[in-house]
Amino acid sequence: MPGVTGPSDYSREPPRHPSLKINAKEPFNAEPPRSALGAAYVTPVEFFYKRNHGPIPVVDDVHSYSVSITGLIENPKQLFLNDIRALPKYNVTATLQCAGNRRTAMSQTRTVKGVGWDVSAIGNAVWGGAKLADVLELVGISKLTGATKSGGKHVEFVSVDRCKEENGGPYKASIPLIQATSPEADVLLAYEMNGETLNRDHGYPLRVVVPGVIGARSVKWLDSINVIAEECQGFFMQKDYKMFPPSVNWDNINWSTRRPQMDFPVQVKVSGYAASGGGRGIERVDVSVDGGNTWVEASRHQKTGIPYIAEATCSDKWAWVLFEALVDVQQSTQIVAKAVDSAANVQPEKVEDIWNLRGILNTSWHRVQVRVGHSNL
Ligand code: MTE
Repeated sequence: MPGVTGPSDYSREPPRHPSLKINAKEPFNAEPPRSALGAAYVTPVEFFYKRNHGPIPVVDDVHSYSVSITGLIENPKQLFLNDIRALPKYNVTATLQCAGNRRTAMSQTRTVKGVGWDVSAIGNAVWGGAKLADVLELVGISKLTGATKSGGKHVEFVSVDRCKEENGGPYKASIPLIQATSPEADVLLAYEMNGETLNRDHGYPLRVVVPGVIGARSVKWLDSINVIAEECQGFFMQKDYKMFPPSVNWDNINWSTRRPQMDFPVQVKVSGYAASGGGRGIERVDVSVDGGNTWVEASRHQKTGIPYIAEATCSDKWAWVLFEALVDVQQSTQIVAKAVDSAANVQPEKVEDIWNLRGILNTSWHRVQVRVGHSNL
């Protein structure tokens, strides 16, 4: 592609924040520490996870960079960055999450394949760019089109990076045409992230952002957009990012039996407080999403949001501890939280066991019933 090249080695990688936890060096895959992730609603760019399958492309001349739009359409076009910038600009706040987020924890049950991730392959950014629906209108595809006259039903995004999974070819993925042409779906061709020019790690000069869908479909370093009849046949659509039941293993897998994963499942942030008397600290907070059968440990923090007190003059010994955990909730269930203090006191399971006629000191596990409804987009 003019202006942008996909190197074959890792000698021209961009600088990165030293506190990122590197899960794989080449290709570069890294996530921020848990504490950095929860600190802000909008994740700073330097702490946004980086998920790559090859060396980061190099932009030599952004003015000659263009995206070609081809395939089953009447008016194929080549669009320069200025053409895309000339379209109405939208800022969309969207959480991007890698489907492999929290993979390391899954491997504790049974080992799984792939780069290991803790819980931070997720970030929330304000993406700025043109709507794909507007871009497609430039080539004669009207909004809310499910198929073109020539049979186009999917929109494929092809990049410039070279991936070994594609035998040295570019990363690619597709989404249904109906989603691409729907203004409400907010699919963007983004050139900005958090108000700044997109950086190299995140797809400079132009990337796709498909909100609400696993990160794998948000193709970075966009080279071409192809309107096609069937979904993209690339590795990452057909031989990866599909969900199989636990009975499927590497000996009996049949990839064609499952559809490529698109939306990511419901995930909730569980947060709350934990406190113990006598100046004892909170040692641990556990959260369960199956009524108390299995548990994950929540992260804990204190001293946030006290702007009027200098940190050094204020002890947190007597204060509560705030906790947070990100959990998957696939169906209606009961979420439970329980804390352990520094003397290893743990909250009792049932309120029946500590019932008293004045109704005080109910420290039993806190249970919250959640109901999950499903809607079809
Ligand atoms: N696009 C290209 N060209 N190459 C890639 O390796 N990785 C995908 C997606 N787009 C990838 C890509 C995956 S799996 C994810 S989760 C997101 O980009 C990560 O985006 P980020 O690195 O900006 O966080």
